[in-house]
Amino acid sequence: MIKRVTTPAGDPAWLVTDYDLVKTLLADRRLGRAHPDPDNAPKFSDSVLLGKPHKATEEEENERHTWMRRMLAPSFSARNMEQLRPGVRHLVDTLLDELVEQPQPADFHEAVSFKLPVLVICELLGVPYEDRETFRRWSEAMSTLNDPRKSQDGFTNMWTYMGELVERKKKEPGDDVISRLIEGTPPGQEEVIAQLSAGLLFAGHETTVAVIDRGVMLLSLNPDQWDALSKNPSTIPDAVEEILRHPSPISTRSEDSGMPRYAMSDIGIDGVHIPSGDLVLLGVLQANRDETRFPSPETFTPRETNPHLTFGHGPRFCIGAPLARVELTEVFTAVVTRFETFGLAVDVSQLTPRKELLVGGVAQLPVRWTVA
Ligand code: HEM
Repeated sequence: MIKRVTTPAGDPAWLVTDYDLVKTLLADRRLGRAHPDPDNAPKFSDSVLLGKPHKATEEEENERHTWMRRMLAPSFSARNMEQLRPGVRHLVDTLLDELVEQPQPADFHEAVSFKLPVLVICELLGVPYEDRETFRRWSEAMSTLNDPRKSQDGFTNMWTYMGELVERKKKEPGDDVISRLIEGTPPGQEEVIAQLSAGLLFAGHETTVAVIDRGVMLLSLNPDQWDALSKNPSTIPDAVEEILRHPSPISTRSEDSGMPRYAMSDIGIDGVHIPSGDLVLLGVLQANRDETRFPSPETFTPRETNPHLTFGHGPRFCIGAPLARVELTEVFTAVVTRFETFGLAVDVSQLTPRKELLVGGVAQLPVRWTVA
């Protein structure tokens, strides 16, 4: 089904929500992120990240995207990410050691969910961890949906910071992704590398933070699943896929939302004519609850097959999915094996949703536990 909706920025768009259609369209190159006439394009939001599109033709966009994947994908391959697992496990243990030192209830969001992805992505990119509070502010500002000035300032600051870091790494390369990007790119491309790196720093932590928090909420609300996992931790990878699929108990998104794409030419979707330049929202959250694919979609239960679209699909499939999966399985394995009881210290209705942010999530996550 395809229907007309209004975006958070107040512009018209088409929304697609059926699983098969969303999946097909995610892989359709005729839907892109660029627009031939950005000034007159319908906007998704007032954020720089998913706001006004950039100017490019279908060919230009595909060329740039293919180059970006060629540059980044090898560094984030499943095999490389698997090698990070012991280090991630150690980090999770350290963060949980610090958590249990705190008086209860303690904020799991601040102590674990936020820290782990930032530590890991900083290490991979070669970004100094001491600067995390600074880029945390910029990263949140960038993803603000309702304040274009704040979003633009966050982006400019992040880009400038990355530009300076790229210059430093040109002089003193390290064993990290940014140094490898510099090595594999002809001189004069520093701005592009800075932009790619800023994107990675953002993509590499905000999303994962929100999913870790979501997992804690879902396991707290489903104690039977918690018991099943602690008895049989080998099923944690299936539980992680279900955490990825299941919507957050705290909804931060309108049901009329989705991943924005622009028709790069006139196309037909489900018998409807979509003129070139129109905005199409791909409803991944709705597709993940499509009953034809996920029986009893509102039930949180590890599934035999779980072909959710949370990491996208097709040529733009998330480059960081193997990394996110390593982080998520390590966090939840540690939590269910280490604690006898563990869960939210307040009712979910008392949690503060971060509605103004693109990735949503919660501001704090107070938890209580007992140790086995
Ligand atoms: C649970 C955590 C994550 C979720 C839910 C997530 C989700 C997504 C989704 C849905 C896309 C596709 C966007 C589209 O089709 O327009 C995507 C792309 C991307 N993600 Fe992730 N992501 C996560 C973690 C990460 C991490 C850890 C990294 C960093 C290493 C990362 C890097 C990227 C990059 C570079 C792309 C762009 C791929 C492209 O355009 O070809 N993501 N992510």
